[in-house]
Amino acid sequence: MTLKDQLNLDRLPKHVAIIMDGNGRWAKQKGLVRVIGHENGTKSVREVVEASAEIGVKFLTLYAFSTENWQRPKIEVQTLMKLLVKSLKKEIKTLQDNKIRLAAIGCLNDLPTKARKELEFVMEQTKTNNHMVLTLALSYGSREELIQMVKEVSHKVKNNIISEESIDDSIINKHLYTQELPDVDLLIRTSGEQRISNFLLWQIAYAELYFTSVLWPDFNKENLYEAFLDYQNRERRFGKTSEQLN
Ligand code: FPP
Repeated sequence: MTLKDQLNLDRLPKHVAIIMDGNGRWAKQKGLVRVIGHENGTKSVREVVEASAEIGVKFLTLYAFSTENWQRPKIEVQTLMKLLVKSLKKEIKTLQDNKIRLAAIGCLNDLPTKARKELEFVMEQTKTNNHMVLTLALSYGSREELIQMVKEVSHKVKNNIISEESIDDSIINKHLYTQELPDVDLLIRTSGEQRISNFLLWQIAYAELYFTSVLWPDFNKENLYEAFLDYQNRERRFGKTSEQLN
């Protein structure tokens, strides 16, 4: 039986988030420059997006560029931005064919104009697609997101738009970039690193964490199904006991 056949399609994670790590090391291992690792990383993006949509994942969020990534060498940042534009142009058909809506989270105003415009164009073109939401985290940092949420909420309290007592989970969710997304069910990180790196800190409160040593450019749909199988073998208790769940 294939890995895919072993999956229970009624118990798939609804929202999958991925920290795509290891592009640089993949290239280095092959004696290539880092940007070739990123180029090959885009192939994994395509495979994982298509496989997720095909199997029935509803929300897929990819950490494509963090607020900290701006500190990388200029040539690497430029290449990543060019790859983003190239991939958006190339993959719009894949998004339409699979009825995938593109969304983005992060400080999008920091992106070069060309990248921002292309992103806005593809988001507009795919806005009525309803099979899966693909969210790209670009110039994203969770602490930044939380800081702007706190500022917006405190501004509303100060101006009597909401009361301090009314602040709860749902008010906070409404002021995050991810306001239209449910909580993350499964967070995957490739390349063997076991850390969160300022990604969706609030949204992963009850997520299952899955770490694999596979480098992102080698990550394929079989690796994705392995992660889903692992997820399906876990008991999600949300603070309750096993007995309460059964
Ligand atoms: C981490 O690997 C990866 C990134 C910082 C960028 C991810 C980008 C892509 C997969 C390609 C473009 C994406 C889209 C959505 C078109 P790393 O460079 O930190 O690897 P290392 O830790 O081995 O150095």
